[in-house]
Formats: sequence, structure tokens, C-alpha cells
Amino acid sequence: MTASIINGKEVSQEIRASMTTEVKQLSEQGVVPGLAVVLVGEDPASQVYVRNKEKACHDLGFYSEVHRLDASTSQEDLLALVDKLNKQESINGILVQLPLPKHIEEKAVIDAIAVDKDVDGFHPVNVGNLVIGDDSLLPCTPAGVIELIKRTGLEMSGKHAVVIGRSNIVGKPVSLLLQRENATVTMCHSRTANMKEITRQADILVVAIGRANFVDADFVKPGAVVIDVGMNRLDNGKLAGDVDFESVKTVSGPITPVPGGVGPMTITMLMQNTLIAAKRAHG
Ligand code: GUN
Repeated sequence: MTASIINGKEVSQEIRASMTTEVKQLSEQGVVPGLAVVLVGEDPASQVYVRNKEKACHDLGFYSEVHRLDASTSQEDLLALVDKLNKQESINGILVQLPLPKHIEEKAVIDAIAVDKDVDGFHPVNVGNLVIGDDSLLPCTPAGVIELIKRTGLEMSGKHAVVIGRSNIVGKPVSLLLQRENATVTMCHSRTANMKEITRQADILVVAIGRANFVDADFVKPGAVVIDVGMNRLDNGKLAGDVDFESVKTVSGPITPVPGGVGPMTITMLMQNTLIAAKRAHG
């Protein structure tokens, strides 16, 4: 069997195309969604991510501000900038690029972002709303994962979803979102015993464990939807997912590649959150 490949780039472009129409209508009413991105230091990967976010804003007709701060910036100065952006009307979304330099406490910065401008969905109030099932800004990568599963046409209700990984950024929120879709969810992680026995029961397998090529065909039930959230840089400089794509695609159903699967969705979901936040801000 040859698995179908879930093209995250294509899905992203479709979503962005429909957002463009909405942004045009809003701008006729004088509303322009605004995103502020804050980068502290010169981490090369972060610089690429920030440039991509800036470009996405430009392409979609959003207002964008990028604040590039020196690696030695104090926590106090960073918090002062966040406070200013919280109060700035032209800004609907604030994203402080992680990781931050070691002398800055990430939690203090995340907690300082206004809940209704927290387009990362990392603020404890937004996390709490996600747990309860209340309306909140959803974390971008998990929201992208759900969107990709929906696009396969698979009805998630009643299906067994297994998530490998329990991070705050992906594993935990994606499990909650799958439950919201009425899937039965099992979480596995680095300490799980007999993991393959569990993952082989999955109709939907989401992998976010941060180990290159961790999942091979042995982990996968024939026909299962496989979503790979991994982004591992190999010694040869190449990017590898957490799933051994060549092995798994021989047994799985629809599967995401790396790159070109979940990755492109994350920024698109960030843009969608910014648009949602702008619409909420303007009643
Ligand atoms: N660094 C890597 N991924 C992310 C993300 O989704 N949000 C933020 N703020 N920083 C990141």
C-alpha cells in the first residue's frame, strides 16, 4: 500500500487564501490585524522563524512589528516592552520568540502577555481555558495538527488517538484538542512501557517526542493517520522528523512529511490567531 502524503504547505496556502479575503473585508472597515514579534539574542533558528513570521504578516496584509533586542537585554526591559505592546492599540497579537537567554525567566514573560493578545496560547489562562473547553487562543502547532487531520476526511469521533510526547507546547494541548474532537486519547512518553503495543492500536498517531526517526513501521497500525511534529537537526545538517517516513509510509494511511507537513501550519495558525484576536478587539 502507498500512503497518501498530507501536504501541509498546500493546506496552509488554502487557509491563507481564505484569510486574505477576510483581511480585505476588515481593512475596508478600518481594521488591520497587528502582530508584534519579539526576538532576544541571535539564535540562528529563531532568526529564521521570526523572518518567516514577518513575511507571513506582509503577505497577508497584517501590520507587523519586529523587536530585535540584544542578548544582554534585562528581564525588566523585556517586561517593559511587553507591557507597552499590551497597551498598544495597533497590536492584536504578541509573540516572544522562545527560547530566551538563560538570565530571563520564560514564565515571567509569558505570564506578562495580555491574555487576549497571547497568540501563542501559552498564557496559563489560555491553557486553563483549553482544559475546560472554553473559548481561547489555541496553541499554534496543536491547532495545525488538528486541522491537518480534519483535511484527511477522517472522522475523529470515537477513534483511538495516541500521542507520543507530553510537552506543554505540543503533547499536552494536542491531546486535549483530540478529546475535544471526541477521540479516545492515550498519551505515551519517554517512560512508557511497551509503547509499540499501545501505538499499534492507534487510528491516529501524533508524534512529538523530539527524537529523530523514533517511530518506524512496527509502531503503526495499517491505515492509521500519522502526524509527525518532530523537527530534529541531524549531524549532516538535514532536518528529520520523529517518524521514519520511508518505513512508516509502507503501512500507514495519510502521513505528514518533514519538512512540508506540520511546520508550515504553525505560522498559518499564528496568523489565524492574530486575525481572531483583531476581530475580538473590534467587537
Ligand atoms: N520557538 C519555537 N517554537 C515557538 C513557538 O511556537 N512560539 C514561540 N514563542 N517560540 C517558539
